[in-house]
Formats: sequence, C-alpha cells, structure tokens
Amino acid sequence: MSEIWPRRPRLVAGNWKMHRTSAEGAALSGEIAALVRGQKACAVALCPPFPAIEAVGRSLRDSGIHLGAQNMHPEPQGAFTGEVSGSMLRGAGCRFVILGHSERRHGMGETDDVVARKLRAALRDGLTAIVCVGETLSEREGGQTAEVLVRQVRTAYDGLPPGTARQTVIAYEPVWAIGTGRVATPEQASEAHRVIRATLDRVVGAGTGAEVALLYGGSVNPGNAPALFAEDEVDGALVGGASLEAASFWRIVAAAS
Ligand code: PGA
Repeated sequence: MSEIWPRRPRLVAGNWKMHRTSAEGAALSGEIAALVRGQKACAVALCPPFPAIEAVGRSLRDSGIHLGAQNMHPEPQGAFTGEVSGSMLRGAGCRFVILGHSERRHGMGETDDVVARKLRAALRDGLTAIVCVGETLSEREGGQTAEVLVRQVRTAYDGLPPGTARQTVIAYEPVWAIGTGRVATPEQASEAHRVIRATLDRVVGAGTGAEVALLYGGSVNPGNAPALFAEDEVDGALVGGASLEAASFWRIVAAAS
C-alpha cells in the first residue's frame, strides 16, 4: 500500500463507534463526501460499524475517502462467533482498521498481546492499522503516562520490520479525553507523541518514529482541532462524536488540510 501512503501522511479518521444503521451511515457518508470532495491535502477515512460498512463504501465510491473498520479478529477464519476477520474487511472494501481502542482495551478486556496479534493480522490481510494507545486518568495522575505508552507501543511493535511499521498509524488517545469533552492540550499531545516516536525508534529501528503518522484522539472538535494540528508532532486526528455530524467533521478535515 506504499503507493498512496507517503511518509507521515496527514489523516483524519472518523470513528462512528456503535452509531448509525447502514441507511443512516450511507446518508451521513454521502453528506461528508459532498463536503470533502476535491480536498487532497489530508487523507480522510470513515470507520462505521460492521453492518454499515458496505453501504457506506458504496456512498463513498469515487469520493477519495477511505473506508475503515473499528476492530477485527486476529485469526483469518474459524469458529469465532460474532467476530470478523481482516480478509472479510478487505473484501467489504476497507483500507483501514482501528485496533486496541480504549473502549475495547478497557471495556472488552483486550490486552496488549491481543492488540499485537491483531496488528500482525491486519498487516497480513493488507489493512492499514490505526493502533490506539493512551493512559487512563489515574495513570496520568500517577505519573505513569510515558510508562503506559512505552509498554503499549513496545508490545504492539516489537519485532516488526521498519518498512512494515511505517505502513501503520498510531492514535494517541488519552482515555480521560475520550467522549468527555476534556481534550488534551496541544502540549500534552505533543509530549505523548514524542514518547511514542522515541519508543518506535528504540523498538523498531532508528528513524521509524519520524515516519509513522501519529493522530491525536479524544474530544477533538472544530474548535480545538486547529491548535492541535498546529503542533508539528500531530499528524491528524481520530474523531469520535464530532464525526457523526458532516459539517463538524468537515471543519476538522479542513483544519488539517
Ligand atoms: P471522541 O472519541 O472524539 O468522541 O472523544 C474519540 C475516539 O474514541 O476515537
């Protein structure tokens, strides 16, 4: 996928979580496509729930907006009731997959090791992974932010060749900022991104950190996006709530462009 994945691309991805039926998703993605069309400075992706993926994909056809999913199982197929594989997502038109979102780590018991297995599976299946990392409020208040980020990044990336790691995206999403309206300051986001880049340099190879796109996620909205994107360290955003409304999502894309 290197042909459309340059060094450290700017990317704004919408994570719809468990919102929108396929009909609603097709309508929303159609509105977003009409606004985003022609904008080339920043890659854009929408990650609807599984049942809406194909309808959203149809409404995004020729729009230049990429399709993504919010999760996948590490195995290619098998007796895993309720799960979907990376090849199924590719077959449904997905380019991206979000892995290790905090709502899965903390709500569904997804461990660092499971995220690492999913990352390898996504790479095997030709998907661009958006690997989410981030500390809880108590970890931040306990001075453990860097330690948590290092552990999550190291477990996910240990053993990956640099050329492969560069084909992924990392989203720094402090758990205390997700869906709370409490956004990290641009300085907090930059500081965390520097920790993540330094960890990639150590774990994968020198220079890797500078080449991986790092998104910030957690209560991004059109008001706070410009200050976040003004940081050299911030290459884009993973947007939850504000991606469910076409105009607000578009204003965030415009701020990144
Ligand atoms: P939020 O969600 O923008 O609603 O805080 C972000 C995310 O969970 O990816």
